[in-house]
Amino acid sequence: MPAASLVSTSAIAAQSFEVRPFSGRVGAEILGLDLSLPLNELDFARVHQAHLDHHVVVFRDQRITPQQQIDFSRRFGVLQIHVLKQFLLHNHPEILIVSNIVEDGQPIGLGDAGKYWHSDLSYKELPSLGSMLHAQELPSEGGDTLFADMHLAWDTLPQHLREAVEGRSAVHSYTARYSEGHNAASWRPTLTAEQLAQVVEVSHPIVRVHPETGRKALFVSEGFTTHIVGLPADESRQLLTELYAHSVRAEHVYRHQWQAHDLVFWDNRSLIHLAAGCPAHLRRKLFRTTIQGDAPF
Ligand code: OGA
Ligand code: MN
Repeated sequence: MPAASLVSTSAIAAQSFEVRPFSGRVGAEILGLDLSLPLNELDFARVHQAHLDHHVVVFRDQRITPQQQIDFSRRFGVLQIHVLKQFLLHNHPEILIVSNIVEDGQPIGLGDAGKYWHSDLSYKELPSLGSMLHAQELPSEGGDTLFADMHLAWDTLPQHLREAVEGRSAVHSYTARYSEGHNAASWRPTLTAEQLAQVVEVSHPIVRVHPETGRKALFVSEGFTTHIVGLPADESRQLLTELYAHSVRAEHVYRHQWQAHDLVFWDNRSLIHLAAGCPAHLRRKLFRTTIQGDAPF
């Protein structure tokens, strides 16, 4: 190998870090990696593999800026800008503020992100590959995020349910539960015509194949899936209810209890997730980046 290329690929020092799987079947933490430093190709490949193997990885103690979060996220793909423009970080539209904080009577971010199980942006033609949340302010109690493994959900799905869904598609809509958030204490701004035009409903296969690992996963969620194509409404409702209940069985779930400066990166093709919520008077703020994925197949 020519010396020049050897130098250029190894110029960034390797970091010694550990990938430590959690005790359950889902998720791992990454210890000793500093994402404020440049990451060389080999280290990046290890992180990428850990993400594929464990579906959600928790980078502890990351003192990174919004720009560093954006730069790291971009190594995985194109970033998606959220339709709720009012909650994007100033000068960094790639970051969506997820927060329950109200300043001067105005919510500073999306206050009820993840109130129902969902996969981010599954209502788009090109849903998300994965999302990163970086903790900025955490409540002293509550505020956990739960992740359910949809590969395990598929692998353990009873035969009659497998037969009922195989080859079928389901419709996903951003507005499926949007209006349920509309009450006196609503976090959800009314969507403009322009915003509505960006979130036209789509249909996706109920069983998708992960484009990088080839593993099958269920791809429906109570948050965004409205109905199964080609079934009478009551049958569709009944079947979805059974799929949802099976998906989030305790043995498929990792519950993340946030620690200061955690950066959590999950795979939206493999998992659905849920915000457990926290007492309203406690402040919670996280920065989210969302990476675009492929059309599900
Ligand atoms: C999200 C989300 C859950 C949480 O930001 O995509 O679902 O616990 N958040 O904040
Ligand atoms: Mn989400």
